[in-house]
Amino acid sequence: MSLFVAEGLVKRFDALLATDHVSFSVEPGQLHALIGPNGAGKSTLVNQISGLLQPDAGRLLLDGQDITRLPPHARVAAGLSRCFQVTSVFKGQTVLDNLLLAVQAHAGSSFHFLRRRAAEAALQDQALALAARTGLAEVLAVPAGELPHGAQRKLDVALAIAARPKLLLLDEPMAGMGPAESAEMVTLIGALRREMAILLIEHDMDAVFKLADRITVLVYGKVLVSGSADEIRGHPQVQAVYLGTETTEATHA
Ligand SMILES: Nc1ncnc2c1ncn2[C@@H]1O[C@H](COP(=O)(O)OP(=O)(O)O)[C@@H](O)[C@H]1O
Ligand SMILES: [Mg+2]
Repeated sequence: MSLFVAEGLVKRFDALLATDHVSFSVEPGQLHALIGPNGAGKSTLVNQISGLLQPDAGRLLLDGQDITRLPPHARVAAGLSRCFQVTSVFKGQTVLDNLLLAVQAHAGSSFHFLRRRAAEAALQDQALALAARTGLAEVLAVPAGELPHGAQRKLDVALAIAARPKLLLLDEPMAGMGPAESAEMVTLIGALRREMAILLIEHDMDAVFKLADRITVLVYGKVLVSGSADEIRGHPQVQAVYLGTETTEATHA
């Protein structure tokens, strides 16, 4: 069974079909990338998946559960975390405090059987482990708002995985990064994919081809093709879309 299924998603803005019966699925343990030129409908699709927008038609299944009508926070509880392009950190708080808050928010009742001191120590351990995994161990005492851009994005990822998602939704995690920061983010995502399925929306094609098991190409609101990285790399219509030639032919396929 697929871990995540988008089935016939339709989203209309007046006369514009921003997502036009979009279907694709993410398999357990896979990193699935969603690519497409500007205006293809990637953000509109991501917002429907995370619950910020309601589709006009179609449905979303996570691990067999229909999540189409769930509000965003209930989707997180169901196992779908989104790393926001607009960061959701508390900028005045330190990195460690942000991590502690996130770990605590998702701990639920799991530490209730512990005494208070032991529970605090367990939360602290989890926050430190999260920092180590995401490359934030050196900046724990820095206020989140004072971090360099690359580290802020790492903190976004850390906060998203604190929820222990089944599927992690990464919306342009490399946006605004230089080559060194991008390379670090690629390494981080490469490590995370061993632990959870990932849906990656990304402009950086080098990163996508390095990381993705499967790629879905979106053009003018429609799925042009879904395939392995090799299939997509060699696909003539995909090359046409990205080289800016034969776009008419490609979009009406
Ligand atoms: N809230 C909105 N109202 C009207 N049109 C929108 C809205 N959001 C996006 N669109 C349009 O939908 C299309 C897809 O946009 P978007 O999902 O942002 O694409 P992408 O993220 O792939 O660049 C574009 O033509 C865009 O102008
Ligand atoms: Mg977008």
